[in-house]
Amino acid sequence: MLLAQISDLHFRSEGRKLYEFIDVNGENAKFINQLNALRERPDAVVISGDIVNCGRPQEYQVAQRVLRMLDYPLYVIPGNHDDKQHFLNAMRPLCPQLGEDPENIRYAVDLFPMRLLFIDTSLAGQSKGWLTPATLNWLEQQLQAHSTRETALFMHHPPLPLGSAQMDPIACENGHELLMLIERFPQLTRIFCGHTHRLIVTQYRQAIIATVPGTVHQVPYFHHDDAPYYNLEPVSMVMHRYVPVTGLVSYCQPVAPHDSSYLYDPRISCPVDA
Ligand SMILES: [Fe+2]
Repeated sequence: MLLAQISDLHFRSEGRKLYEFIDVNGENAKFINQLNALRERPDAVVISGDIVNCGRPQEYQVAQRVLRMLDYPLYVIPGNHDDKQHFLNAMRPLCPQLGEDPENIRYAVDLFPMRLLFIDTSLAGQSKGWLTPATLNWLEQQLQAHSTRETALFMHHPPLPLGSAQMDPIACENGHELLMLIERFPQLTRIFCGHTHRLIVTQYRQAIIATVPGTVHQVPYFHHDDAPYYNLEPVSMVMHRYVPVTGLVSYCQPVAPHDSSYLYDPRISCPVDA
């Protein structure tokens, strides 16, 4: 299994830029081209929310057109910038697992050595996340029914504070309910999120919890300064490869065009001068 996780694309309507100067539509199209050109092709791409910036149908038109170019199966969930109904209308043709109920977007994928669960933590009109009783019940049922299958969960909002002054107040407000499930179900070993526009890794009990970078704009990590900064640091995605014996290995894959790999040559590494 090799998954490529990308996040927080924040598409705008045709011809519009993010914050009036960032060409998210063009940059996301380039990102998708880079994904399609990966030398080691992933089995699927996961997008962990914030497909568009303002939840508008015109933004989803652009998102759908660009994401249609993806050369891989797509698993997608909404984030706080998404509108559940418009998200579903635009993304379901690309990800049929989403189902038909915008208020209950959740699904499981059973094709890989690890079981994959996808849930919606968005709360209409709010930046913070929330796990509804129905989502928590579904998660509990899934974990109970497949207790011997190692499981990774994808959700937009991280379920616990990560020490970021800007992002912690808008994490998943009742994430502690998920932490209780982590305690009860040892097979739940990974929680992969978006939302923070940055690679951040922590752990709760047996579960490694990580957030991944945005595809275009990033959010700097400050512990004390909660001003709403963003920046245009180099972009990347996070690859998740299941390695026999070891288990899941995740690594950062930069996306900016770069020279192809050089081959290490011991003859020139430490030359002995004549
Ligand atoms: Fe975002």
